[in-house]
Amino acid sequence: MSVVALVPAAGRGERLGAEVPKALVEVHGEALLLHAARGLLASGRVQHVVIAAPSDQLDEVAAALHPLGAAHVIAGGAERTDSVRLALDEAGRVAPDADAVLVHDAARAFTPPETIRAVVDEVRRGAPAVVPVLPVSDTIKQLDASGRVESTVDRSRLRAVQTPQGFALDVLRRAHDAADGDGATDDAGLVERLGVEVRTVPGHAHALKITTAFDLAIAESVLAACAA
Ligand code: C5P
Repeated sequence: MSVVALVPAAGRGERLGAEVPKALVEVHGEALLLHAARGLLASGRVQHVVIAAPSDQLDEVAAALHPLGAAHVIAGGAERTDSVRLALDEAGRVAPDADAVLVHDAARAFTPPETIRAVVDEVRRGAPAVVPVLPVSDTIKQLDASGRVESTVDRSRLRAVQTPQGFALDVLRRAHDAADGDGATDDAGLVERLGVEVRTVPGHAHALKITTAFDLAIAESVLAACAA
């Protein structure tokens, strides 16, 4: 039995304003994707990593991952869900003994190993699906169509969701088989639609999603602080 991690990284990441896809943007001289894949393997819980890359950048992505020597790169699809589904198919080939699967954002390149372990261990304890979450610190307002405040949402029951998200392999397969293409923003969302329970474990501030140049600057300083 083994754990396979899928990293859909076939998007363009234009919000970062870089010339290269977001996954190839470098922090401390190494691509975000390399940091993310290394973190997964370094958790000690993940044996295989399958990466979905832009179809015209397979060589660049493989080169960025070269220092790791242990990742499978495939061409991604038109949408994020297509990329995950293609990576899931590849996982069946490279890790036929896998019973648990993680889906991780390359943009959460500095997710601590304890968060990855907590997700895998919860799946191993029998959870069909697991997401790391953080409490929401901002007050959240719901607006009407004209931008006026309609109500204030009770934030005590709200959580921001991070990755890796963990699944029993058959559950994620079923969720993707049933997906109708109407834009779930995460894989746990597809599992929820099956009516299957999704559990939570504590997330971590270092697992922030690097989306803007500001986030990138934060990641640089997080890494500098961790190395000090
Ligand atoms: O563009 P967005 O932020 O929604 O992308 C979320 C993640 O899905 C990114 O890591 C991106 O690389 C990935 N993605 C993908 N295949 C696509 C589109 C996005 O793997 N066709």
